[in-house]
Amino acid sequence: MIDKDTKLAFVQLTGVGKAIPDQVLTNDHLATLVATSDEWISSRTGIKQRRVLAPGQSLTKLATIAAHNALQQAGRSALDVDLLILATSTPEDLFGGATRVQQELGAARAVAFDLTAACSGFIFALATASQYIQTGKYQTVLVIGADALSRWTDWTDRTTCVLFGDAAGAVVLESAATPGLIGFELRSDGIGSEDLAIASQTEPIPLTTGIAASRAHFSTLAMNGSQVYRFAVAAVPDLIQKTLLQHDISPEQVKGYFLHQANQRILDAVAQRLNIPSERVATNVARYGNTSSASIPLVLEEWSSSDRLQPEDLIVLAGFGAGLSWGAMVARWGRF
Ligand code: UT7
Repeated sequence: MIDKDTKLAFVQLTGVGKAIPDQVLTNDHLATLVATSDEWISSRTGIKQRRVLAPGQSLTKLATIAAHNALQQAGRSALDVDLLILATSTPEDLFGGATRVQQELGAARAVAFDLTAACSGFIFALATASQYIQTGKYQTVLVIGADALSRWTDWTDRTTCVLFGDAAGAVVLESAATPGLIGFELRSDGIGSEDLAIASQTEPIPLTTGIAASRAHFSTLAMNGSQVYRFAVAAVPDLIQKTLLQHDISPEQVKGYFLHQANQRILDAVAQRLNIPSERVATNVARYGNTSSASIPLVLEEWSSSDRLQPEDLIVLAGFGAGLSWGAMVARWGRF
């Protein structure tokens, strides 16, 4: 169905799925690796434990399971998928991981590509996916967020190694008769690009007289935590407010806020800034830590599968992180 004013097709978010690795790494485990404690990690971040992929386990497999679960909830098969977007900063192939997920899932008709925007990747990918549906190019799009930051963690750095976990989540978007997606806003600011990075490093490779190339590899994750914290608590509620205002929706009308899970203190600060009860801001950071591009579908899936969320409920999704980048989306959940 086409919106008479904008001439754009309507988009609904019709299914969500998740997948997590089996290995559980607790705060007490981390206290045996670095000078930290359960007390420090819990009080500063809200995190109690996180999941970590074991050697030999595959992020592609995790992404495929999350995608399968999302399709099942949407009542669609892999062959219905026209487009698959994999939001990840930790692909198992630098050329991209999306086609491997496409292959494992059996989404033979889909075109598949990666999108990198760190912890904002899922929101950026949802926004991208929605455009293909609104313009009528595709009807069914699968957006997957999957990251294994444990592979890029410096396990001797207590300021970062306690924060991250591995996971995958996915959402199905479909062309629909009534509007689910209401609007979104995306932002980037490269001034903060060094505040959170997994930087590439190069070493010279002499080739022949007067000519040299270089070989690249990536260093481990580095973050200026307090700088990113200040950015998040200011920029995220501000963008959510702007996005809601654009559509004449007040923060109280929204049933659930599904934000990137970086720190419980950030989630509480957003609730306070929006003047909403903290229970409206979904959280599972205690159990999974910061799972980067997977965090939003991971926490959305919990509300959807426990019936805390009903079709047509108003939701806000918001991501933020390296880039710096941030984005907010307002929608009505589900197929209705
Ligand atoms: O996903 C992308 C977005 N990421 C984020 O949004 C992360 C945003 N940042 C944060 O969540 C917080 O800044 C952190 C959780 C990373 C850090 O919390 P903080 O309250 O900002 O702590 P801090 O960095 O100011 O450090 C306070 C103290 C320091 O010691 P001194 O200098 O005061 O003696 C740190 O060395 O805590 C120390 N510290 C630790 N102590 C025990 C830092 N990490 C640890 C640790 N255990 N794991």
